[in-house]
Amino acid sequence: MKTVLSCIQPTGDMHLGNYFGAVKNWVDLQDQYKCYFGVVDYHAMSMPYDVKNLRTNTWELITNLVSVGVKPENLFIQSLIPEHAELCWIFNCFCSYGQLTRMTQFKDKTQQLKDSGKEDSFISVGLLDYPVLQTADILIYKADYVPVGKDQDQHLELSRDIAQRFNTQVGKEYFVLPETLYTDTPKIRSTADPSKKMSKSGGEKHYINVFADEATIRRQIKSAVTDSGNTPVGTMAEGVQNLFELLKASGQSLHYDELMDQYHSGSLKYVDLKQVTADALVTLTGKFSARKKEISSDRKRLKDQVKQSSSEIRKIASETLREVKELVGLMNI
Ligand code: AMP
Ligand code: TRP
Repeated sequence: MKTVLSCIQPTGDMHLGNYFGAVKNWVDLQDQYKCYFGVVDYHAMSMPYDVKNLRTNTWELITNLVSVGVKPENLFIQSLIPEHAELCWIFNCFCSYGQLTRMTQFKDKTQQLKDSGKEDSFISVGLLDYPVLQTADILIYKADYVPVGKDQDQHLELSRDIAQRFNTQVGKEYFVLPETLYTDTPKIRSTADPSKKMSKSGGEKHYINVFADEATIRRQIKSAVTDSGNTPVGTMAEGVQNLFELLKASGQSLHYDELMDQYHSGSLKYVDLKQVTADALVTLTGKFSARKKEISSDRKRLKDQVKQSSSEIRKIASETLREVKELVGLMNI
């Protein structure tokens, strides 16, 4: 059975981009593959953050993931498996500094910090090293497939480079080169500005929280930007495309086909598209919210389950690390 691994940072709300772009795939893959899904709290320290919130956010994300269908036995918390950080150090020595400085995410986030002008907006070594720790997350379980959104392409490329360099240096095809696995919706756009991807960094307008109440979801879809007026003739405006994507991803393919026909015949009213999309999203997320309420009534149980699964998963990580130390000439007694 092939192995799948993916992770997500505990940095606040889970939005529809995270769900449709990544987490939905996690849920669907669980029956076919050996799966490991991590909440990466070490990664969340790479940008300025509030120490008071990190642990709460980590448990909150665990609850959210289980509420949308991720099995607790497949979940781990990164900082409960310190082998990830140790392997990261080893990989640091198999990765060039120049390659890390050229990473798009590093450049974007560095710029974001500089632009914020805050006093504490210093750029940490952790931010530069972020993709190496991500590589350790993936390779420590010898993952074949990594389900992520399109924005993670470059990081996956780096993981393969590191695996390759490691294999060459130790003279053995030890690590599998991991491949990306996309969902059908690798990029969900912001409904407020469809030229951007849906993301938390733009502020509340730019993402729809999976656990938002019905009225909020309806309001956000109602005010979604459709056609800004400068779309070339014969192409569908990004905002309209995005609503269709959301509708299809919510599992409403009959409605999708029907409205798409209307679009092609020129009779589609955007207000109808919005109504049907909002209904579909509310039905889907309503189930998740109900499940979350149930789970939240016994958080202790979930915490115990995930502590247990992390310690089981740690056994795999320690075994890989033991072999790696052997291969690179570190002490192994
Ligand atoms: P982030 O919230 O940026 O930590 O992303 C967590 C996961 O969600 C990653 O696998 C991303 O690729 C995916 N993701 C984030 N934003 C989007 C989006 N707007 N569309 C599709 N996938 C996304
Ligand atoms: N960088 C990923 C993101 O921003 C999160 C992540 C950390 C990850 N480690 C990973 C994703 C390992 C896949 C595999 O979404």
